[in-house]
Amino acid sequence: MTLGHRRGPATMAGAWPPCDVGLQPMGARHLRGVAAVERATSPRPWPPATFRRELEDPATRRYVVACLAWPRRRPIGKVVGFAGMQARPEATHVTNIAVAPAQQRRGVGAALLAWLLATAAELGHEAVTLEVRAGNAAARRLYARAGFQEVGMRPGYYRQPEEDAVIMWLALAGAARPGGAR
Ligand SMILES: CC(C)(COP(=O)(O)OP(=O)(O)OC[C@H]1O[C@@H](n2cnc3c(N)ncnc32)[C@H](O)[C@@H]1OP(=O)(O)O)[C@@H](O)C(=O)NCCC(=O)NCCS
Repeated sequence: MTLGHRRGPATMAGAWPPCDVGLQPMGARHLRGVAAVERATSPRPWPPATFRRELEDPATRRYVVACLAWPRRRPIGKVVGFAGMQARPEATHVTNIAVAPAQQRRGVGAALLAWLLATAAELGHEAVTLEVRAGNAAARRLYARAGFQEVGMRPGYYRQPEEDAVIMWLALAGAARPGGAR
């Protein structure tokens, strides 16, 4: 499965970002801010080179950033969050999502996730899947609220610290879930 080149819609209904935050496709100019958010939120942060590599493959990857809309005269607003996905044969995979600690619980994460889901749906993809640390209650709740269901575990999947992964799955319009259930 590959990704087309159309831009996704801003968000799905019901998950708009706060009014001082805008979503836009991630570009090289955002990478410094993206890396800062990643360092502040991940126990094993991706280095900037990993994000750069992801952006070099637009046929299978889509990344979005959330930026503060003010001050308006700056060329880009401060990056406060980001999310990305990769098209795989079985399903679109959420690769990463994070919101700067000072901006959490304002709806930014939900808006970023909605952007990914709306983009995947618009591109005709049938399902979205992801892994999440079993102890990451905030992310598990975010995904559950978006309609993801827990469909399996990967024991010891994560390192530093070692932790199980929960596999989550969301069928987009009309698609079947693994095992044939709907
Ligand atoms: C997970 C994360 C992206 C959520 O971003 P956010 O902007 O704070 O999320 P939102 O404000 O949009 O919250 C949406 C919903 O997620 C859930 N949620 C978010 N943070 C939560 C928390 N700390 N505790 C419990 N539920 C939480 C809630 O259901 C929330 O809805 P509500 O506020 O109406 O109750 C953010 O906590 C984060 O960056 N965490 C570190 C990185 C990470 O764990 N990424 C996921 C990797 S799989």
